[in-house]
Amino acid sequence: MSQGNRGVVYKGPGKVAVESIPFPELSLGKRKCEHGVILKVITTNICGSDQHMVRGRTTAPEGLVLGHEITGEVIECGRDVEFLSVGDIVSVPFNIACGRCRNCKEGQTGICLNVNPARPGAAYGYVDMGGWVGGQTEYVMVPYADFNLLKFPDREQSMEKIGDLTLLSDIFPTGFHGCYTAGVGPGSTVYIAGAGPVGLAAAVSAQLLGAACVIVGDMNPERLEQARKFGCETLDLRQDTPMADMLEPILGEREVDSAVDAVGFEARCHGHNHAHEQPATVLNACMDITRAGGRLVFLAFTSLKTRAPLPAKPGWVTCPCASGWVGLSRTPSIPVNVQ
Ligand SMILES: NC(=O)c1ccc[n+]([C@@H]2O[C@H](COP(=O)([O-])OP(=O)(O)OC[C@H]3O[C@@H](n4cnc5c(N)ncnc54)[C@H](O)[C@@H]3O)[C@@H](O)[C@H]2O)c1
Ligand SMILES: [Zn+2]
Ligand SMILES: [Zn+2]
Repeated sequence: MSQGNRGVVYKGPGKVAVESIPFPELSLGKRKCEHGVILKVITTNICGSDQHMVRGRTTAPEGLVLGHEITGEVIECGRDVEFLSVGDIVSVPFNIACGRCRNCKEGQTGICLNVNPARPGAAYGYVDMGGWVGGQTEYVMVPYADFNLLKFPDREQSMEKIGDLTLLSDIFPTGFHGCYTAGVGPGSTVYIAGAGPVGLAAAVSAQLLGAACVIVGDMNPERLEQARKFGCETLDLRQDTPMADMLEPILGEREVDSAVDAVGFEARCHGHNHAHEQPATVLNACMDITRAGGRLVFLAFTSLKTRAPLPAKPGWVTCPCASGWVGLSRTPSIPVNVQ
């Protein structure tokens, strides 16, 4: 089968274009990819992670076909695909995983050992993640399809809710993974930095996990309003008030049990300087307001410079690591979707 295809192509900082691209083939280099499928893309999202690339803040190569949040319909199956059929509607976890290596078997699909020759972990349409063609396209190839794809059981029902289901490819599992990994549970208190799609998904996840109080901070009043609509407390970080002083009237104490960074290295300052970027802001804020022994999770892309006192600069943060242990987290979407 061969027909036209179009995709969103990164053309350099600040520039993307919809261009004709090759129709995907069931192949990996010269080898036939019998475990793969070709999807007709139904829905996709633009992620905060795409924005880092498009703003020229990464080493993404020009010509990269973007898009890692894919929902589609199977239109062709390789010979070895056993549990999917043409016509199935599926969600595609953004991390590509083989399902066969040690990490995949342990549920760490975000760091599969077999899908990126340069380093563990791969994604569609993403810098340094294996060079896979992305899915902000009409058609895309998905390898190891039986393992990777989440099939929706009912075609009609899934099409009715397809906008919501689109969140399963990245945004929702990322938010859930953040809160789960941060130990959010019944009765706990959590601060979510960032009220973008990932932050709001983390906030909903914290509620699902039983948090007593979910506090979301951002400088964007419309996004904070959205968080309040489903029962979160909010911190408007345009204010110069120290965060602990804002927490106290909400919680009766100046600390939370855990904190999740859903902002990343393009973080801006708190207070009157809130239009200025200060990459370390969220990392430092989370450390300041999380109780001793509490957990911090950094979902977003943050480069750590472990030795202070180098000043923070774009792409680097000044990190007083003596204050706590820091772990970076790349969401393993498949286990989260299974949960
Ligand atoms: N780990 C993963 O697997 C994974 C998956 C998806 C996205 N991400 C990352 O998550 C981050 C968020 O994604 P998104 O799509 O929600 O992005 P987004 O850009 O829509 O949202 C980021 C929000 O952070 C706010 N913000 C800026 N500085 C802040 C600060 N100091 N404190 C609090 N809020 C601040 C912005 O106003 C904005 O509303 C991105 O960095 C993205 O790369 C990671
Ligand atoms: Zn994403
Ligand atoms: Zn693997």
